[in-house]
Amino acid sequence: MDAALKGPLKASRPPGPLSGTIRVPGDKSISHRALMIGALAVGETRIGGLLEGEDVLATASAMRALGAEVTRENGLWLVAGRGVGGLTEPANVLDMGNSGTAARLLSGILASHPIFSVLTGDASLRARPMRRVIEPLKACGARFTARAGGLLPMAIEGTADALPLSYRLPLPSAQVKSAVLLAGLNARGRTEVDEPAPTRDHTENLLRHFGAEVRVEAAGGGRLIALTGQPELKAADVRVPADPSSAAFPLVAALLVPGSEIRLEAVGLNPLRTGLLTTLEEMGAPISIENRRLEGGEPIGDLVVRHGPLTAVEVPAERAPTMIDEYPILAVAAAFARGTTRLLGLSELRVKESDRLAASWRLLAENGIRAEVAGDTLLVHGTAAPPRGGARIETGMDHRIAMSALVLGLASAEPVGVDDASFIDTSFPGFVRQMAALGARFEPA
Ligand code: S3P
Repeated sequence: MDAALKGPLKASRPPGPLSGTIRVPGDKSISHRALMIGALAVGETRIGGLLEGEDVLATASAMRALGAEVTRENGLWLVAGRGVGGLTEPANVLDMGNSGTAARLLSGILASHPIFSVLTGDASLRARPMRRVIEPLKACGARFTARAGGLLPMAIEGTADALPLSYRLPLPSAQVKSAVLLAGLNARGRTEVDEPAPTRDHTENLLRHFGAEVRVEAAGGGRLIALTGQPELKAADVRVPADPSSAAFPLVAALLVPGSEIRLEAVGLNPLRTGLLTTLEEMGAPISIENRRLEGGEPIGDLVVRHGPLTAVEVPAERAPTMIDEYPILAVAAAFARGTTRLLGLSELRVKESDRLAASWRLLAENGIRAEVAGDTLLVHGTAAPPRGGARIETGMDHRIAMSALVLGLASAEPVGVDDASFIDTSFPGFVRQMAALGARFEPA
């Protein structure tokens, strides 16, 4: 962990360009899933490159509390699983920290185990909607009791005899899809999820990797996913790629700091995660992908990113599921582009670790960048010149708002600060150290 990440932090223009090679930490989505599915497999799963951020460590503790053995040895994480349906009642409340993914995916697993559990989290997570998983999961026979508005803490009485669900997602959400599929692991028969637009498919890929039968068909612009229940999941080795959502921060920093050229190694390039790359390429960003390869069933590659001028674009709402976590940092990049960038279809940003639509707008506005929110669209009026900067941003317990603000500070006229950098550790432990290795300047504010 970075010693500096305890309180206020600020970033200012570095004396020279950013340069060098880094490998950002492991993919958060895949890390949660590898621990959870490993805990449901028979035998010992070995995970390399696991994200050791606080969100994922909360999942590791929860899986331990549910009876799996989870240990770390020589940089590998080992999970001795209990088999499908084999988790046992936790002796205490499960605290999922800041992580919506952990809370929602685990709700699915717990719904089809005949045990009682209570989920909670930090103040940010306790404000995030859980009805989106409660509604579909109730239909398998589990009982949920949550705070008013469907908020954590939430008690779950799982069922011994779960019915397989057939569910059409009302919104494109990989978390809801995954909760339903994970509940279906311990239900007899076929669980089906119909998603209106394709969302990240790491759950499907990993379930197959552990031996489950998962069929996927294209259906009317979306996908129909079918899982055969009660498979015997067998332990498997998992190699976690570097997280494209974390790579986004040094990537945009290199685009914005004059003269920069950096290399980001082994970044996950699952096509359901690469909307930011597509968008930046449309904006004219000089990014090349080298050494494309497959690792642990996921496409990866090395990204070489150089500083370059950007042009405004319109990002269609349909692209949102493939870059849902990247809008705050894209908004920062758009501030440096020539013209008005239009980001459409951002309603889901309102229910992330903070209201990221409002927070992204505030980040820009407080640093002298003209931006507007119109319904669920964010307009960013870029000037192709460094913005003023100079603000100290309240991050609202949101790691991605904190990192976006610090990247903005690297290329603005005045430094940009954040009130509390500690949440960065939820997804990107080592952020300050890795950015400093590239030549960035951060100091306590
Ligand atoms: C995630 C799905 C996305 C994303 C989150 C991780 C996942 O959330 O924002 O950071 O691992 O499934 P939604 O499913 O709510 O869109």
